[in-house]
Amino acid sequence: MTEKIRWGILGSGRIAKALAEGLSVLPDAELVAVGSRSQESADAFGDLFDAPNRHPSYEALANDPEVDVVYVATPHNLHQENTLLCLNAGKAVLCEKPFAVNAKQVREMVRVARERDLFLMEGMWARFPPGMVKVRELIAEGALGELRSLQADFGFKPKEKDPEGRLFNPALAGGSLLDIGIYPVSLSSMLFGKPEEIVTTWHRGETGVDEQAAYLFKHPGGALSVMHSSLQAQTAQEVVIAGTESRLRIERPCWRPQAVVLTRNDESTERFPLPFEGNGFNYEAAEVMRLMRSGKKESDIMSLDESIAIMETMDAIRAQWGLRYPME
Ligand SMILES: NC(=O)c1ccc[n+]([C@@H]2O[C@H](COP(=O)([O-])OP(=O)(O)OC[C@H]3O[C@@H](n4cnc5c(N)ncnc54)[C@H](OP(=O)(O)O)[C@@H]3O)[C@@H](O)[C@H]2O)c1
Repeated sequence: MTEKIRWGILGSGRIAKALAEGLSVLPDAELVAVGSRSQESADAFGDLFDAPNRHPSYEALANDPEVDVVYVATPHNLHQENTLLCLNAGKAVLCEKPFAVNAKQVREMVRVARERDLFLMEGMWARFPPGMVKVRELIAEGALGELRSLQADFGFKPKEKDPEGRLFNPALAGGSLLDIGIYPVSLSSMLFGKPEEIVTTWHRGETGVDEQAAYLFKHPGGALSVMHSSLQAQTAQEVVIAGTESRLRIERPCWRPQAVVLTRNDESTERFPLPFEGNGFNYEAAEVMRLMRSGKKESDIMSLDESIAIMETMDAIRAQWGLRYPME
C-alpha cells in the first residue's frame, strides 16, 4: 500500500461530498477517484474536490488500480450491489448506513468480504467522533453503574417532500427507520446488544413508507431502549443513557456529539466538552485507514457481526409493520 491511502467515492451526491470534505483534513488520505452514473457528474465532483480520476460508471471506479478503498455513497437499495461490485474487484469498502436494505443482503456482503479477506465496514459515522469515544470510556470505567435505559430520537423535516427521492420512495428503500431510526437503533445495539423484545408502531405516509415510528426494546436483564424517528418533525436529537449510579446526556445535536454531561444520583454534574474536527466524517475515515494499515479486515467498534444484528433488528421491526420494499 502506498504511503497515503487512496480513496475512491462511488456516487456523487450529498454524502459523497461530505466524505470528500472529511478526507481533506486527513493528511494520510488522498481522494483519487470518483465514479458516477454520468461523466458530467463525475467531472463536476472531480473539479470540486480535485479528484483526478473521473469515471462515468461504478464498474470503472471499482476497477481503478489506483484506488485502495471505495466509499459507497448511493441510496440504500444499491448498497449491496455496489459493495459487492467493489469487493469482487478486490477493493476495501466503507459502505454508508444502512449497510443494505435487509439482513439477507448484509450477510452476503459480509460473506464475500470474509471469503476474499477484504476490509469492510458500515459507515455508521456517529460511532467515531471523540464524543462517542468518551461515552464508551465513561461506561467502561463504571461511571454510570449498571446501564438500565436509553432514550434517543432522530427526526428532521425535509425541506421538500419528493415522492421520487430516496427519503420517501419505496423503490429506494425510503422511510425514517432505515435513514435515521438506524442511529438510535445502532446506539442501543452498541450499549445493550440485540433486544429480546421489540414493541413498535409506525405512521405510514402516502408513499407507503414509515414517516414516523417509535421503538421500545427490552434487553436481557430488563434494560430498556425508548426511541423514535421522524421525517415529519425536527425532534430534540438528544440522547440520555441512565445507569444505577448516574445518567449521561449527549447534548444536541447528539449524532454530531460535541459535549456529554454526567449527572450523578446526588444531581452533581460534570460536563465534558469534546473536540469535533472537520465535518465529522473524517473520524470514520481515519478509523478505516488505521485498520487498513494494521492489516485488520474489520472494526471492533462497528463490527460486521453487529451490523448484521442491527439489520436483523430492523427487519424484525418492519416485519411487525408489514412494510416490505419492492426489491425484497
Ligand atoms: N452518514 C450520514 O450522516 C448520512 C447522511 C445522509 C445520507 N447518508 C446515506 O448515504 C446514502 C446516500 O445519501 P445522499 O443523501 O448522499 O443521497 P443523494 O444526495 O441522493 O446521492 C445519492 C447518489 O447516489 C447515486 N445514485 C445512483 N442511483 C441513484 C438513484 N436511483 N437515485 C438517486 N441517486 C442515485 C447518485 O450519484 P451519481 O449520479 O453520481 O451516480 C446520487 O448522487 C444513503 O444510503 C444515506 O443513508 C448518510
